[in-house]
Amino acid sequence: MLDEKLLKKIDMQRLPVHVAIIMDGNGRWAKKRHLPRIEGHRAGVKSVDDMVTTARKLGVKALTLYALSTENLSRPKDEVRGLMKLLQEYLIKELLRLCRENIRLETIGEVEQLTPVVREALKKVKEETAGNSAMVLILALNYGARAEIVEAVTKMVRQVQNGGLREEDIDESSFSRFLHTSNLPEPDLLIRTSGEKRVSNFLLWQMAYTELYFTDTLWPDFRGDDLLRAIIEFQGRDRRFGLTEEQAFSLKR
Ligand code: FPP
Repeated sequence: MLDEKLLKKIDMQRLPVHVAIIMDGNGRWAKKRHLPRIEGHRAGVKSVDDMVTTARKLGVKALTLYALSTENLSRPKDEVRGLMKLLQEYLIKELLRLCRENIRLETIGEVEQLTPVVREALKKVKEETAGNSAMVLILALNYGARAEIVEAVTKMVRQVQNGGLREEDIDESSFSRFLHTSNLPEPDLLIRTSGEKRVSNFLLWQMAYTELYFTDTLWPDFRGDDLLRAIIEFQGRDRRFGLTEEQAFSLKR
């Protein structure tokens, strides 16, 4: 249940279209409770559930969750195995809800390097939710923004070489089409939990004008009301996209 007082403070006409979250602090949450790290990740799945519910309820159109960075795959084997298992369980459990609530699942990152079972589960959920349109849930898995940019450059050069793209047509918009996020709007709001104030190789190109929100709350403690607080702060900010106040005001009208 969301806090009605917080809900009332939200301007439904000015919701962020795309919210991206760096879910951090699972390990510290577990350590504080003398639990193995994987229990922090397991508790974090409940926060994932809560974010999807809240974002969908509000009418946010896209929610991207940084579930696994490329670097995370180099963590101790037990932890990586545990994360893969949680992901697999989550996908199996979530399919019905995504279908019921008209949510499409997409991924960004090198999913080909995940375990065959997780790849299979992802393929099934993506296929079965492909026609859903109320919201898109994007899981960033084995994702790294620099690698994504290098891959996009490589693909673009190849297209120029084979005549599919003219050099004079290279610009920001044509480049964006080679990124994993080609069919998504850029994030309006980035949230990072656990007190760290970094973007850690997440959506570097796409975040040029994203509003950043940092909170000390650890990810497993971050719930729907915390998302409302982040959106309230976002709505209080003056987004100018590098323009003067007057220009930005006329853009909004
Ligand atoms: C960062 O916390 C979190 C991760 C590396 C994984 C996030 C995964 C989940 C929330 C669960 C699985 C996801 C889905 C979508 C089912 P950390 O371990 O770096 O925390 P620490 O900085 O406190 O050590």
